[in-house]
Amino acid sequence: MRHPVVMGNWKLNGSKEMVSGLIKGLDAALNGVEGVDVAIAPPVMYLDLAEQLLSKANSKIILGSQNVDLHNNGAFTGDISPAMLKEFGASHIIIGHSERREYHNESDEFVAKKFAFLKENGLTPVLCIGESEAQNEAGETVAVCARQIDAVINTQGVEALNGAIIAYEPIWAIGTGKAATADDAQRIHAAIRAHIAEKSEEVAKNVVIQYGGSVKPENAAAYFAQPDIDGALVGGAALDAESFAAIAKAAA
Ligand code: G3H
Repeated sequence: MRHPVVMGNWKLNGSKEMVSGLIKGLDAALNGVEGVDVAIAPPVMYLDLAEQLLSKANSKIILGSQNVDLHNNGAFTGDISPAMLKEFGASHIIIGHSERREYHNESDEFVAKKFAFLKENGLTPVLCIGESEAQNEAGETVAVCARQIDAVINTQGVEALNGAIIAYEPIWAIGTGKAATADDAQRIHAAIRAHIAEKSEEVAKNVVIQYGGSVKPENAAAYFAQPDIDGALVGGAALDAESFAAIAKAAA
């Protein structure tokens, strides 16, 4: 039985004050909510503060991060390792977000290496996949998603997806307010699951597939009512405690 996961990707937003306020607000708003795992990924600079606040509140909110690099130590200026993320309590690590694929030229193969390195270090990869508007219009959505997942399956085996999270995020829906309809998202999620099932029905049945792209309190319940949508990866609406908590509650 899959368990929904709602994760907030704060992207490049935050200050000590904002992190404090948002975590306190969220923890209060989510008090007593069961049936959904809620995670947040603040900028890495604020993981220490976030971990302290969450542990002081004895919070069930899971801490995550937005990226990871490919070594645990050494001469790699500016890099952040899985071991460091782990030391600060981050367990769910977003990789392959379309913003990193686009602005940092991250290839499918590079993202797959990050996936393997996270697993090796006992962390949960949140693997973002999704098509551009042009690819969508050309009818290439499922092929693009399959290719991005195959970079992991073909190098690590389909079982590598066990315990990992896939976040389907159509790029044209990210931050645009132009969310995919729940029916369209369901169709793609089902196709992604079917693609994985070609290798292993068991893995396909158990893997959590989130939807991401302009998820708001107003549209969240429609996504979560779909059989193949197991939560959401939320950007803009995750920066407001009330909105993010409402989304999480819709998945519970
Ligand atoms: O990682 C989150 C996504 O990019 C979605 O962002 O909710 O602002 O559209 P958004």
